[in-house]
Amino acid sequence: MSEIIAIANQKGGVGKTTTAINLAASLAVAEKRVLLIDIDPQANATTGLGFHRSDYEYNIYHVLIGRKRLSQVILETSLSTLHVAPSNIGLVGVEKEFYDNNTKGRELILKTKIEEIKDQYDYIIIDSPPALGSITINALSAANSVIIPIQCEFFALEGLAQLLNTVKLIKKTINPTLEIKGFLPTMYSTQNNLSKQVFADLKEHFKSKLFLDKESASYVVIPRNIKLAESPSFGKPIILYDVESPGSKAYQNLANSILVS
Ligand SMILES: Nc1ncnc2c1ncn2[C@@H]1O[C@H](COP(=O)(O)OP(=O)(O)OP(=O)(O)O)[C@@H](O)[C@H]1O
Ligand SMILES: [Mg+2]
Repeated sequence: MSEIIAIANQKGGVGKTTTAINLAASLAVAEKRVLLIDIDPQANATTGLGFHRSDYEYNIYHVLIGRKRLSQVILETSLSTLHVAPSNIGLVGVEKEFYDNNTKGRELILKTKIEEIKDQYDYIIIDSPPALGSITINALSAANSVIIPIQCEFFALEGLAQLLNTVKLIKKTINPTLEIKGFLPTMYSTQNNLSKQVFADLKEHFKSKLFLDKESASYVVIPRNIKLAESPSFGKPIILYDVESPGSKAYQNLANSILVS
């Protein structure tokens, strides 16, 4: 059975793409068959894995408008069990097209496309854009669960109520089995009191939804780590760029906690 996990938070720059790439890669290194679907027009997950515009002709936009099947846009990566369905800035028009054409069942298009290939993967990770429009709705409608990265900085929890309401609404109307897989504190800095405060707030409100690393019996927290910021410019997940870095270890812990749950 494959598990479909959306990474979502309408706040920009909180670590969605970093989480999508590195969770996908860590699961792939654990010998799981993983597909990373990039449905953000910024295409950061695609470029972060080393693909440039000229490397692929078709992308998830063509899948969503029905011109290509998902299997026709999937690319292989340097990890043999990690595949990616790339995105492209052209995807920016898709929401307007859905709206203009009054496309029927537009919330469920991605889900339908995933159905065709789902059996070939153990995990499908979806990286979504920083918005709560129809692209993110498609991701949440297709997913079994959602991981919400929370940047351990000022205003971390701002907008969270809106996101949680959206998840609730989708659960009620389109996808009754959608679960919150967990909240993932990102860019945590031990020198920063604000980081500690954000983590304390998360623990107070969502303790049961934090990821637990069973080995160390501690919560999974992604540290602020320059290696995580550098690795996309080399087109590599952290596990292939600096496996011993704290960022790499943290994402491996996240993958482990998902594998044992
Ligand atoms: N743990 C970390 N340590 C250091 N830098 C990080 C970390 N996580 C993410 N970054 C950097 O912070 C920036 C934002 O991260 P990322 O692109 O993953 O966020 P995002 O939520 O996907 O953004 P967007 O909303 O634009 O899609 C990037 O430059 C990334 O390299
Ligand atoms: Mg992103």
